[in-house]
Amino acid sequence: MNVHVFDSNEKLNEAGAGILIGTVQTKPRAVLGLATGSTPIGIYEEVVKEFKRGLVSFRKASTYNLDEYVGLPAGHPESYLEYMKHHLFDHIDLPAESAHIPDGSAADPEEECKRYDAMLADAGHIDLQLLGLGHNGHIGFNEPDHALNSATHVVKLREQTRAANARFFGSLEEVPTHAITMGVGAILKAKTILLVVRGADKAEIVHRALTGPIATEVPASLLQTHPSLVVLLDAEAGRLFR
Ligand code: GLP
Repeated sequence: MNVHVFDSNEKLNEAGAGILIGTVQTKPRAVLGLATGSTPIGIYEEVVKEFKRGLVSFRKASTYNLDEYVGLPAGHPESYLEYMKHHLFDHIDLPAESAHIPDGSAADPEEECKRYDAMLADAGHIDLQLLGLGHNGHIGFNEPDHALNSATHVVKLREQTRAANARFFGSLEEVPTHAITMGVGAILKAKTILLVVRGADKAEIVHRALTGPIATEVPASLLQTHPSLVVLLDAEAGRLFR
């Protein structure tokens, strides 16, 4: 495990974008696992900047997003598909058919999970999986539990998670109750995992996840078992690693 603590957000974003861009430069057909939330926004901004400078092309790459809310109407601004378009997809040359994200408006979400897993299996393994961290240690939407699901599945969101994400919606009631998430199987199969965490409110959970016991009650603790884990922390989230 490689943990880096950054004094400036700018440096963190450059480092994260550098790893993502480097993956595609080395392997143009790279399979990228992408994340949403506030954490990766600065990294995506940096990637777009470098793309516009002509330093990288995503023409042959493909992407698989970790998760999507269930039940939001198509085009809802808080759907993760709209997020990805807004922050990344609309600004780079990734072909639309190469960008994959679970369809949260599918009539049968369980079938959609199977379809997504079949696509992931076809893609082989993910070369670089970008991850944020939930306040309760969740990754994607793999919430703490006595057992975790390896495959893509429908999950009931914890109230803590809905409350944390309410800041993006008008009110808590508008936050969906369920989501589709890639399971820990596909995440842990990625060649390299890039975990990014920011903010004082995540200092304890990231420290516990990476140095405490491995337990499904802290899903991110499973990352300790991964042979190629890179962790980027801002100064506040990395307080306990100094
Ligand atoms: C969300 C997402 C996760 C994300 C996490 C942290 O609910 N499903 O993929 O990593 O919670 O989000 P943020 O970066 O906004 O703190």
